[in-house]
Amino acid sequence: MADLRYDDQVAIVTGAGNGLGRSHALFLASRGAKVIVNDLGGSVAGAGSSESAAQKVVDEIVAAGGSAAPNFNDVASFEGAQAVIDTAMETFGRVDILVNNAGILRDKSFKKMSKEDFDSVINVHLIGTSYMCKAAWPIMYDQQNYGRIINTTSAASFGNYGQTNYSAAKAGIVGFSKALAQEGIKHNVRTNILAPIARTRMTEDLLGPMAKELHPELVTPVVAYCVHKDCTVNGEIFSAGGGRIGRIFWGVTPGVKMADISAEDMRDNIDAIMDPAEYIIANSPADELKMLSVKLKA
Ligand SMILES: NC(=O)c1ccc[n+]([C@@H]2O[C@H](COP(=O)([O-])OP(=O)(O)OC[C@H]3O[C@@H](n4cnc5c(N)ncnc54)[C@H](O)[C@@H]3O)[C@@H](O)[C@H]2O)c1
Repeated sequence: MADLRYDDQVAIVTGAGNGLGRSHALFLASRGAKVIVNDLGGSVAGAGSSESAAQKVVDEIVAAGGSAAPNFNDVASFEGAQAVIDTAMETFGRVDILVNNAGILRDKSFKKMSKEDFDSVINVHLIGTSYMCKAAWPIMYDQQNYGRIINTTSAASFGNYGQTNYSAAKAGIVGFSKALAQEGIKHNVRTNILAPIARTRMTEDLLGPMAKELHPELVTPVVAYCVHKDCTVNGEIFSAGGGRIGRIFWGVTPGVKMADISAEDMRDNIDAIMDPAEYIIANSPADELKMLSVKLKA
């Protein structure tokens, strides 16, 4: 089969001045996409700003014969996110692909976490992702009847010590993206979700001896597939790192059903309620209601 290509398509990659975003941007450009390289250029904790990170990646793309333009806006600002989309429209005239990747970390136990640590992480990841999608929506959904979005979550959405802010933001991105996937599909806008594992400046102290094998380039194939026109999935979460790609899903156990179920029934049946055998993968509230209706009839 032919290689995946993105000729005549315009891609936006947020936070593309470093790490994973840089890898996604370089790949898409190498396969024919015109790329907006967005990056605010701050520290891992989100302090400061600089134009050099985004500009360097644009220079790399152009030096390799590709087409790219920089954007230095903050995706956590409504106007900033709109300005990223405006840069794409003014420079290249379309937005086919949106890779929401920008992110910061402010790890601390909840006891020590300040309001600012909590809010800033939620704002960059969850609110920034939603602002970028909101600004892209009139183009993808209304004008083009076409779009491919991939939003970046994390294994921290399973819950991680010292990351209440980040886990909340990343789990929020999953719910947001799954709902957006359902709304977009009738206008051929697909939204999927990436949970990466890679050695970047954000994780260099966190991954231990495995780090040397966790190249960002080994995560990018998930982005490449999910933003391609031939992508067949929608609202799915893919975990990727070190050359492995897997699926993450939310399951619901059948649990127990009793007439007049009581607090004591929960206590006495906790093992059966927790038992994952015969779980279902719920992709909408309707999936769980279907399971409930079977139980109610039984
Ligand atoms: N590296 C991993 O193993 C890993 C694991 C799980 C999730 N992630 C997620 O992947 C994404 C990329 O992370 P990375 O590891 O490449 O980190 P990174 O720090 O190398 O890159 C993140 C980039 O986002 C930019 N950025 C931050 N705030 C921004 C804002 N408000 N507007 C625009 N740009 C902004 C930064 O300047 C930086 O260049 C993040 O969303 C991160 O949470 C990474």
